[in-house]
Amino acid sequence: MKILAIETSCDDTCAAVLENDRLLSSVISSQTDLHAKWGGVVPDIAKRAHESRIKAVIATAIIRSNSKISNFQFSKNKEEKLDQIIEQGMKDIDVIVVTQGPGLAIALGIGVNKAKELAIKYNKKLIGVNHVEAHILANLIKNKKGKPERKIEFPALALTVSGGHTKIVLMEQNDKFPIFNFQFLKKENINFKYTVVGETLDDAAGEALDKAAKMMGLGYPGGPIIERLAQKGDKNFLKLPRPLSTQKNFDYSFSGLKTSFYYQIKDWPKEKIGGNLANLSASFQDAVFDSLLIKLKKAIEFYNPKTILASGGVLANLEIRKRLRKLAKESKTPLLMPVKKQFNTDNAAMIGITAYYKALRGEFAEKKEKLDRNPRLTF
Ligand code: KG4
Ligand code: ZN
Repeated sequence: MKILAIETSCDDTCAAVLENDRLLSSVISSQTDLHAKWGGVVPDIAKRAHESRIKAVIATAIIRSNSKISNFQFSKNKEEKLDQIIEQGMKDIDVIVVTQGPGLAIALGIGVNKAKELAIKYNKKLIGVNHVEAHILANLIKNKKGKPERKIEFPALALTVSGGHTKIVLMEQNDKFPIFNFQFLKKENINFKYTVVGETLDDAAGEALDKAAKMMGLGYPGGPIIERLAQKGDKNFLKLPRPLSTQKNFDYSFSGLKTSFYYQIKDWPKEKIGGNLANLSASFQDAVFDSLLIKLKKAIEFYNPKTILASGGVLANLEIRKRLRKLAKESKTPLLMPVKKQFNTDNAAMIGITAYYKALRGEFAEKKEKLDRNPRLTF
């Protein structure tokens, strides 16, 4: 089964091609430069950028996945050439998949409309995917050679943290099989059942990092900039709260942390902030990561998972990856994290792998023209 995946939920225009769960190509056209000067994603700018880039991104993913295609004689006109590449590529694509939500409505719309247009025009099966599920399943992406071979033992706990969500999800094998191929599903453990056991009550952790970066006058997205500065800083420089850490649930809150940070530095002259960027970054990052791990540790103690998974944009951070490895070792539980940094931040490979499992379960869109974006899709 060959899958073409499309992702446009925020500020990256992405496409990927997979052969089953093996990734053949993944293209990410980042819009960071367009949004940086506004200190965050501007929906209208994102929409227009997705619109102008999507065709080229899909065509590039197709070309990179299929060496035969470059032998064709294509038109010299750029637009025509892109259409021809897509037309050739479609000959061996079986399924088209797209992020339905959650995300920015007008950005999602570009990907959803493109996926529908192609699925209808070329008579392909169509699947809509939840972006949060895709972040979790990014852990299962394999390379062309089928590596790494990973197995999730159930129950599993997944921490997924990005600019839009922060969740601890209990993953179990779903024993209810309403669909075909019961034996296969049972053998492969692919009928996942998800229960969100903890989540943020306000800001996402990545959003908090982005907002703190903005308060310090740093660029966007803030997470990677803070990571770099924090390496040389003193994490005990500012005293910041670890909200909800003593409560007996697995929920998070980051807005109080952000407010505390704001009030502590708001009257500082610019030079004082500028002279302490490393210390401020280290203190804020440490408070965010402590919060994330305190609750995850509690959830591990409560649910006793056989596998821990971690993913999402914030997991591109080497410091939290290191701390997670330590926590998993202490809990004597295997830990899975996406094998490549670019599988943590938004990408279409994770949308493709999610669709692979959905396709095995027969979860295709019944009426292609009715598949719609869902900016508030829950998980
Ligand atoms: O998954 P993602 O690309 O998009 C969403 O679904 O939101 O995550 C983006 C978020 C941003 O908040 C960004 O600051 C954060 O992930 N991020 C990082 C790092 N790279 C991206 N946070 C901390 N350290 C990083 N290296
Ligand atoms: Zn994301």
